[in-house]
Amino acid sequence: MEKIVVDGGRPLKGSVKISGAKNSALPILAATLLTAEPVTLKNIPHLADIESLYKLLNHLGTAIKVGKKSVVCETRKIKSHEAPYDLVRKMRASILVLGPLLARCGKARVSLPGGCAIGARPVNLHLQALEKMGATIQIENGYIDAVCSQLKGTTIIFETVTVTGTENIMMAATLAKGQTILKNAAREPEISDLADLLIKMGAKISGQGTDEIIIDGVSALTGVKEHIVIPDRIEAATYMIAGAMLKSEITVTDVIPDHVQAVTEKLRECGARVEVKESEIKVTGPQKIKPVDIKTMPYPGFPTDCQAQWMALMTQAQGSCAITENIFENRFMHVPELMRLGADIRIEGATCLVRGGGELVAAPIMASDLRASACLVLAALASKGVTELHRVYHIDRGYQDIVANFKKLGAKIKRAQVKY
Ligand code: EPZ
Repeated sequence: MEKIVVDGGRPLKGSVKISGAKNSALPILAATLLTAEPVTLKNIPHLADIESLYKLLNHLGTAIKVGKKSVVCETRKIKSHEAPYDLVRKMRASILVLGPLLARCGKARVSLPGGCAIGARPVNLHLQALEKMGATIQIENGYIDAVCSQLKGTTIIFETVTVTGTENIMMAATLAKGQTILKNAAREPEISDLADLLIKMGAKISGQGTDEIIIDGVSALTGVKEHIVIPDRIEAATYMIAGAMLKSEITVTDVIPDHVQAVTEKLRECGARVEVKESEIKVTGPQKIKPVDIKTMPYPGFPTDCQAQWMALMTQAQGSCAITENIFENRFMHVPELMRLGADIRIEGATCLVRGGGELVAAPIMASDLRASACLVLAALASKGVTELHRVYHIDRGYQDIVANFKKLGAKIKRAQVKY
């Protein structure tokens, strides 16, 4: 077991190359199940969640060649249509194989993902949509059993905006008979990236990036010579927030500025200087951070995956603000840990009232989920003294080289073995 040890309180300076987007790479890898031909992908990040999906795809019949610059996935035939619990429980986004398996071989047996630290995260909307497309779905012993010889196009209205729900049904609809219209679809950039890959495979899709996506089913999909995954907007925003928080000067490179617009605007509101170029953004932290309220919303609103990081920043603000989490019902697990560092935060339902300005002082803390662990790294970097952050496996799920990157920026940070 490892921990991250941070000797905080230092300003940072330098640039960070942002890796490929985890939440784009995951559905895109699942989409390779839809064809028997090889699909070559670039800019796939090296993350624990990606490794978990490789294991699952191997189990299902995908041959995966991971090279220095690209990953080639080839599923000549489906070897198994079952995504077992021991693989799914490690990575809930494994639910993304459900739509492609059903579309490719007419049946799928996928373990229910189960809850996670940030909420129950049901998949009812995925299942309702597939049933509407003609699938027979049963749930028993913790497994989703789905059968359908030929999915049929129809109109699906999502009662809640769901990112992986939109992705699952968009993938299933590429091989359905007839036209599928997704209404109240998610508009995240990762949806558009997935659609771009599917179109390269021969799918007929329009409207991606808006709340209405139209898919005209085709009989088969082909391989792809090259698809480059978009940069990770949440990783980029995390380093940008660090720049504002630590009176630092941090440049993120290989980014798409449009994808982090909501965070950029809030950073400017809190007094940070944000210089945007074509594929890089430089954030210079202010001497005095102004308190700025946020409410998390589906894209293009403020991303829920940056809520915890924003809270870390607001503990350093001169004044109080309100942070409202509208997407998940339990995404404040980082609050008690921030309070151990001396933060003054009060939870009132879906809103946290953060009274900024108090100094953060080192203490041993524990990560609970992926983005909470990023928040706690930022808080440790701002804290006086040496902080030990435990359960760092959470952070390895979604941040490639975060310790090395912050070290390069001048932080005193390292990984160490936990002796117990
Ligand atoms: C995706 O999760 C991301 N994961 C999450 O990122 C992100 O926080 C989330 O979208 C919201 O942006 C991946 O893309 C792999 P949702 P997803 O379905 O698709 C409810 C990270 O840190 N809902 O958009 O699982 C759900 O409970 C992760 O990288 C249903 O009720 O989220 C939630 O309240 C964390 N029924 C809301 O909708 C359903 O069938 C949005 O969830 C599906 C969702």
